[in-house]
Amino acid sequence: RPRVLSGIQPTSDSFHFGNYLGATRQWVDLQRDHQPFFFIADLHAITVEQDPKVLRERTLRAAAQLIAMGIDPARSAIFVQSHVPEHAQLAWVFNCLTGFGEARRMTQFKDKSAKGGEGAASVGLFTYPILQAADILLYRPHYVPVGEDQRQHLELTRDLAQRFNSRYKKTFRLPEPYILKATGKIADLQDPTSKMSKSASSPSGIIEMLDDPKVSAKKIRSAVTDSEAVVRFDPETKPGVSNLLTIYSALTGESVQALEEQYAGRMYGDLKKDLAEIVVGFVTPFRDRTLELLDDQSYLTQVLAQGAATAREVAEATLRDVYQRVGFVAPP
Ligand code: TYM
Repeated sequence: RPRVLSGIQPTSDSFHFGNYLGATRQWVDLQRDHQPFFFIADLHAITVEQDPKVLRERTLRAAAQLIAMGIDPARSAIFVQSHVPEHAQLAWVFNCLTGFGEARRMTQFKDKSAKGGEGAASVGLFTYPILQAADILLYRPHYVPVGEDQRQHLELTRDLAQRFNSRYKKTFRLPEPYILKATGKIADLQDPTSKMSKSASSPSGIIEMLDDPKVSAKKIRSAVTDSEAVVRFDPETKPGVSNLLTIYSALTGESVQALEEQYAGRMYGDLKKDLAEIVVGFVTPFRDRTLELLDDQSYLTQVLAQGAATAREVAEATLRDVYQRVGFVAPP
């Protein structure tokens, strides 16, 4: 079975709809006929300052949310990145294969370091995509299900795989990004030309999966639209309405075209009211299940231990090959 791998950062109390519709929902689908590795990227999280206690809590919350979403620990290895030391070890090798200018071209570094200026950003933030390449290549996956914002990191990953393979010996598979056209970029509800993001300007633009469902319903109802008052999908000129249609279609399985017909001649208020109900129906059981899982930390710990053991078997074998090929003497 082809392998899939992906990761998510534990940098907020809740995943949001962008994470879910853009990425983790595909994890759930792909686990059925692939060999899946899914991890919580705590090494990536500390590229910006984190409160240690909060980071620990959020890591467990992330595990609970993944399981509540439908990632099945019996099918998928669910693990914490720092539990598999080979990620950091392979990242060092790739650091030495990456050009300084090449790393500098990564746009997420530019975005994330923009606020405090480059000087204030950590070196870890700078080398973040190189660690991500290591995360991926260690497992030799066929597909990496992510949102559109990760495309550039996937390109670097493929470049590094190719470089290593040609400099030493064929070691890595070139992974394919698995990015859905429909939901690869879910927009902010208040600023629909930007992606929904934890670092967004206002919390009212993000639907958090673990928010009180009433709050999420309200956010949908107050989403920014336009003054045309026609329910029509056109991301260029009608980003707000198009985003609502994308979310609606993704949650119900109805096509965007069918929705346009269904809401022909009706007001935005109707669309929002219906979508708010759909969202409430979706997040309520998810939230209940997550909270239930968080009550049983010994179960979560056991899932993560099992996941790390499965992951390490693969990661150790890859790192052994790499160390041998770069010319390290085998340890005694
Ligand atoms: P992170 O934690 O920011 O986001 C997790 C996943 O959610 C996707 N995503 C979105 N998709 C659509 N619309 C949005 N508005 C939206 N916002 C977020 C992201 O694309 C991502 O797939 N660098 C990664 C974590 C990572 C990783 C990896 C991923 C570390 N190592 C190896 C894949 C493979 C990140 O920060 O994702």
